[in-house]
Amino acid sequence: MESRNGNEVVVVTGASAGVGRAVAREFASHGAHVGLLARGEEGLEGARRDVEAAGGKALALPTDVSDHEQVEDAAERVEREFGPIDIWVNDAIAVVFAPFWEIPAEDFKRSTEVCYLGTANGTRAALKRMRERDRGTIVQVGSALSYRAIPLQSAYCGSKHAIRGFTDSVRTELMHENSGIHITMVQLPAVNTPQFSISKALLPNHPQPVPPIYQPEVPAKAIYWAAHHRRREIYVGTSSVAVILGNKLFPALADRYLARTGYDSQQTSEPVDENRPNNLYNPVAGDHGAHGIFDEESHSESPQLWATTHRSWLVAGALGLAGAAYAAARKL
Ligand SMILES: NC(=O)c1ccc[n+]([C@@H]2O[C@H](COP(=O)([O-])OP(=O)(O)OC[C@H]3O[C@@H](n4cnc5c(N)ncnc54)[C@H](OP(=O)(O)O)[C@@H]3O)[C@@H](O)[C@H]2O)c1
Repeated sequence: MESRNGNEVVVVTGASAGVGRAVAREFASHGAHVGLLARGEEGLEGARRDVEAAGGKALALPTDVSDHEQVEDAAERVEREFGPIDIWVNDAIAVVFAPFWEIPAEDFKRSTEVCYLGTANGTRAALKRMRERDRGTIVQVGSALSYRAIPLQSAYCGSKHAIRGFTDSVRTELMHENSGIHITMVQLPAVNTPQFSISKALLPNHPQPVPPIYQPEVPAKAIYWAAHHRRREIYVGTSSVAVILGNKLFPALADRYLARTGYDSQQTSEPVDENRPNNLYNPVAGDHGAHGIFDEESHSESPQLWATTHRSWLVAGALGLAGAAYAAARKL
């Protein structure tokens, strides 16, 4: 899938930090021209430098994804500078950590507007252009929490579930019109990103991702792969597979387990200042990069991701082994 200038044109929302920052870099390493959407100008500038260092071209576009007009303007700018958009990645989020009844109504609304409506806004701007050409790919960055909600993240988990439902609706509408556009969702495990240091946390202690934790380059590779294959959905990491399948089989057991463990497993032993600067309404100053503060505990590889992206090899290997075993058995 290549644009008229020979390089893929890609839009990444939430490109200034975390997973989105690593995704922009991953596409750039394949020569992509990348539209970088987020609000923080220092983070966007860092992402622009990363993309150019990796061999791509970058266009940094300060955008609040909760505002559909800003997203539409950004899409317009990307096409004017780089040509038709081939791939759109919806990654941006803004989280508030607290029990539901302690989250101010305004904060709940705002988190939902960024996480859920931001994804709908990105999808709308992408489809407006892709449907005219009957081609393109939209990748929704999801989470194991798109299937299994956990305590202290009701706004985020509600949005991730909503994105999954929204995406299924849009997929069937595209299929109804025999569209050539592909829409897919990548369900991530816990990732070491700045999220836990820059999000709003109304908790006693510093939030943390629930181990096992992966470095953001792992989901970035999965998202790149998903953008170039016709898979409906991809789970990243053994923990995502276990959480999603386990919850399908034993949801009430999962409720009880999470009620018992979910508060402690999402907090370090360090206290957090609930008035720390947070990114719910405005970006936090500075360039936060792709990685968070959990480098030492984080995995840089996922054997499960290798297996899911090479499953035809695995099937061929298994069939080969079965054939060899059958042939050997016939000789006995
Ligand atoms: N980290 C994990 O453990 C984890 C686990 C599963 C799935 N995921 C998924 O990975 C994706 C990224 O999460 P992350 O952990 O990388 O988050 P992050 O480190 O907090 O980064 C969030 C990104 O979204 C941008 N953003 C926030 N509000 C925005 C707004 N209103 N408009 C435009 N951009 C906005 C931020 O930039 P500005 O502040 O500069 O705007 C930043 O670039 C999400 O879809 C999340 O669901 C993460």
